[in-house]
Amino acid sequence: MSFDLVFFGGTGDLTWRKLMPALFQAFRHGKLPPGGRILAVARDDRSDESYRAFIKERFVDVESSKRPSDDEFARFAELLHYRRMDLSRDEDYAGLKSWIDERGADTVVLYLATSPHLFPVICEKLGAAGLNTPQIRVVLEKPLGHDLASAQEINRVVRSVYSERQAFRIDHYLGKPSVQNLMALRFGNALFEPLWRRESIANIQITLAESLGVGTRGDFYDRTGALRDMIQNHALQLLTMIAMEPPSTGDADAIRDEKLKVLKSLKPFTPETVVRDVIRGQYRGGNVAGQAVPGYLDELKVPADSHTETFVALRTEVQNWRWAGVPFYLRTGKRLSARDAQIVVNFRQVPHPIFPGAHRANKLVIKLQPEDGLELHLLAAKGSGTNDALAPVSLDLDFDKVFQTDRVGAYERLLLDAIAGRLNLFVRSDEQEQAWRWVEPILDSWQRSRENGGEGPRGYAAGSWGPAAASALVARDSHAWSEEQ
Ligand code: BG6
Repeated sequence: MSFDLVFFGGTGDLTWRKLMPALFQAFRHGKLPPGGRILAVARDDRSDESYRAFIKERFVDVESSKRPSDDEFARFAELLHYRRMDLSRDEDYAGLKSWIDERGADTVVLYLATSPHLFPVICEKLGAAGLNTPQIRVVLEKPLGHDLASAQEINRVVRSVYSERQAFRIDHYLGKPSVQNLMALRFGNALFEPLWRRESIANIQITLAESLGVGTRGDFYDRTGALRDMIQNHALQLLTMIAMEPPSTGDADAIRDEKLKVLKSLKPFTPETVVRDVIRGQYRGGNVAGQAVPGYLDELKVPADSHTETFVALRTEVQNWRWAGVPFYLRTGKRLSARDAQIVVNFRQVPHPIFPGAHRANKLVIKLQPEDGLELHLLAAKGSGTNDALAPVSLDLDFDKVFQTDRVGAYERLLLDAIAGRLNLFVRSDEQEQAWRWVEPILDSWQRSRENGGEGPRGYAAGSWGPAAASALVARDSHAWSEEQ
């Protein structure tokens, strides 16, 4: 199957930081279908050769085991091409069409790795140039919109040019191996599904913690904030995978229908519940891994009076028969104690204790980062004498060790899926809009508070686990965050 993969924003950060290294891995692993061409388009004048050199230089930032040797790069570089394009000029789209038509590849993937405000104009011009025939797919990077209205507008334009089956909306968390494993855990095994419900589960916690700050992205981040950057997309996507009903088939729409139902079942926020159930924070200076780091307001390109949140913790519920009354706690933040992304399923206590000592409930930890694994926490008898007290133990599975070869990173997986036309790990427009609909009352309430001179986010020390109020949110239900258990 021959393919053309075209990157709009071909000299941008995303392309050289994530996409090219991912493609190189696919190439190195022999997973890239043969007969492919990769075309980067951008505004500057460059030859294929100078573009290849540009990409090669940037591989120095990639971890050493994933860096190509000169020889490997030379072979990979044969696939790379460059074309100058002014995205506002119709003639440039016509030129792109001729380049594509000349060869007539079986599949053409147009990856929009540009700023999202350009998506509507690019899609319109692609459509006008006839670059929307059935073998063409368009990949859209997040953030898709800033709120419900802007997301709807992007989707309206995309839909006027491409069918839903041609639109691949990326949420790179869905490409992480542990997230695919979550599907396998739930629907490839009979073990957990009978327990996967309110009768057995006390609460579910999704934590996406980062130790990094906003770095050089202060201006983007300040317009965005943690709710839009991480909760509206990554955290909610994980929640849908945890809470969804078994789909009737493994087909993309069967899965996405079930995910959409979860999003529609989320308890809607009101101004009162935003105040009670959503904690926002902003990092102050502190220490992360022994290094002193500045507070958010002292970061580059961040206004000194910013109310942008760098931390969110919230409590919600999925209002259906399976989950009624089970709290789902979502938490994300920058400059937290560690880079740690995980989903914790806390099971209920035994109904009647017969062993002495404190009774810890079972928990299942699905680890996304830094390792990709699964931990099942149990209580066991030590068998070391007369004492009947139980001791906590865990079954610990490290997927990198189990599957030593063939582990495919998130972008590599998603790029290969886009080329193969597999939509399972991409977000459908209705899911994405429903997620915006759900977060919007939170955004509105914060906006109103700002206009009325209300207090901004709570400060938290860099290197901590966020404001104390986040612990209180969970303690209110007599639960605790995983690291406090
Ligand atoms: C991106 C956010 O979507 O995800 C970033 O815009 C964040 O702010 C990143 O750092 C986290 O992704 P990962 O894969 O490193 O956890």
